[in-house]
Amino acid sequence: MDDPFDLSEERTYSRWRARKLGAYPSEINDLRVPLRRLDRPSPAERAALKTRIDTFNMALVEVDPDGIETEALLSFTRALGLRRTDANLFADASAVSRIAATRPDPDEQDRAGAGHSLHGRATVGDFIPYTDKPLSWHTDGYYNAPDHQVGAWCLFCVRDAREGGENGLIDHEMAYLRLRDESPQHIAALSHPRALSIPAHVQDGRTLRAASVGPVFSVRNGQLHMRYSARARHVSWRNTPDTYAARAALDRLFSRPDVFTFRYRLRPGEGLVSNNVLHCRAGFGDDEDPAKARLLYRIRFLDRVVLD
Ligand SMILES: [Fe+2]
Repeated sequence: MDDPFDLSEERTYSRWRARKLGAYPSEINDLRVPLRRLDRPSPAERAALKTRIDTFNMALVEVDPDGIETEALLSFTRALGLRRTDANLFADASAVSRIAATRPDPDEQDRAGAGHSLHGRATVGDFIPYTDKPLSWHTDGYYNAPDHQVGAWCLFCVRDAREGGENGLIDHEMAYLRLRDESPQHIAALSHPRALSIPAHVQDGRTLRAASVGPVFSVRNGQLHMRYSARARHVSWRNTPDTYAARAALDRLFSRPDVFTFRYRLRPGEGLVSNNVLHCRAGFGDDEDPAKARLLYRIRFLDRVVLD
C-alpha cells in the first residue's frame, strides 16, 4: 500500500512524481553542504545533509582537505547510519579504497576499463581496477549478489587530476520516473528478476566472483534500488523485446536534459555521498608524480543513508 514504485498504484506514483519533479531542475550547488569537521557533523549540518539526500539521493560535502582521513571518513559515514560496508560486515579502515590511476599492463586494460568491477575485498595491487580512462554509467556493485547490493557510497577527493576526471550523476529515482513516464512496460521489464546478468569471473579455473543475476529496479524496504551497467561487454541482458526496448530507453536517458544530470569535478576537500545513484566519470590527465596524482577515497555500504 502506498508504494509509488508499484505499477498498479497510479495515484501514489503521481503524488510521488509531482513531489520529485518539484525539486528539479537543480544545480550542483544545491547539493552542497559545508562541514566544519568531517568526523563530527553538527545537528544543523546533519539536517542539511538529510534534506539533500532525501531530495536528490546525494549530497556534495565540503571540508578542509587536511581533514580527509580514513578514521574521520568512517566517523562521518557512521553518523549517516552507514555501518555495513561492501567489503566487511563492519566498517573498518580496510573498507576505505584509495582510488588512483595506475599504469595498466595491456592484459589488464579490459578489466580495468570495466570500472570497479571485480573486487569483493580487493586492495590496491591485487589487480588494477582503476585507470585514467572514462567509466561508463553504472551504479556500484551491480556485479554483487542480489542480497549483497550496494545501498550507498561516498567518494572523497584528496587530490584532483591535472585535467578532467569529472563525474556525471543522475538520481536513479529520476531515471525511474522518466522511464515510467515513457512506458510502465520499461519498468516492468527492468524489474524482472533475470533482467540483467553479469557472468561469473573465472580465472585459471577458479571462480573469483559468482555470476550475478537480478533486476535493474527493485524495491527494498520501501526504497528504490537500481542495479545497472552501461557496459556492452561482460554483461548479459534478458533476451526479450520488452527488455531490449527498456534498455534502449535507458540508454537514451543519458543524453536527455530532463533527467537533470549533474556534472562535477571534485576538488580536494570535496566529497559525494549518495544512495548509490547512477554515475560515470570522464577520463583524466594526471601528474606523472604519484605523490601529486589524483587520489580519491571511497567506501561502499550495503546500507542506505539514514538521518533523523
Ligand atoms: Fe562507481
